[in-house]
Amino acid sequence: MEGDLQRFMRRAREAVAAQDGEAARREIGRLLGELSRSGAIALDGVEVGLHGSTATASTVLARDPGGLTLMLLRLSADESTPVHDHKSWGVAYTLRGTDRHKHWRRLDDGSEPGRGRVAVDDEREVGEGEFVDWPDPPHDIHSQQGVGGPAYELVCFGRDPMAALRDYYDPERGTVRQELAR
Ligand SMILES: [Fe+2]
Repeated sequence: MEGDLQRFMRRAREAVAAQDGEAARREIGRLLGELSRSGAIALDGVEVGLHGSTATASTVLARDPGGLTLMLLRLSADESTPVHDHKSWGVAYTLRGTDRHKHWRRLDDGSEPGRGRVAVDDEREVGEGEFVDWPDPPHDIHSQQGVGGPAYELVCFGRDPMAALRDYYDPERGTVRQELAR
């Protein structure tokens, strides 16, 4: 029998095949809500440090051969994640707590190695049962932090974010470095 996770992955795959980017992401946000309410997600399943910091922990819940990946994330309230990208569109759904989600825009053209100027172009608090989505690069730069306590999120990516080099930005210095997911 198809479990709740498998059902989510199948329907997310169908949404991506049937609809253009923004419509598919909204449908996936709705499907993440269904998955959340199914009770199939245990919040203590979060294990591995992400971005090499104690601020965030994550674990991969499901991975599709086509690249679609579902992760469970815990965001600390003590420290923001670095400003980073995933080389993929994504949808982040808050299971518990509140995520302060900043979306960043790249200002330079990337022609100078190591330089990368970014500025916040959207900042919002994503509460329980709400989601935020973003399109493919170069529009996939963000940072996140729990508000008043840890926030737990389901994040669905179009491509496996653990497989690609990602960019980490230092907004104050205007620099960027590429690293494998950590
Ligand atoms: Fe991220």
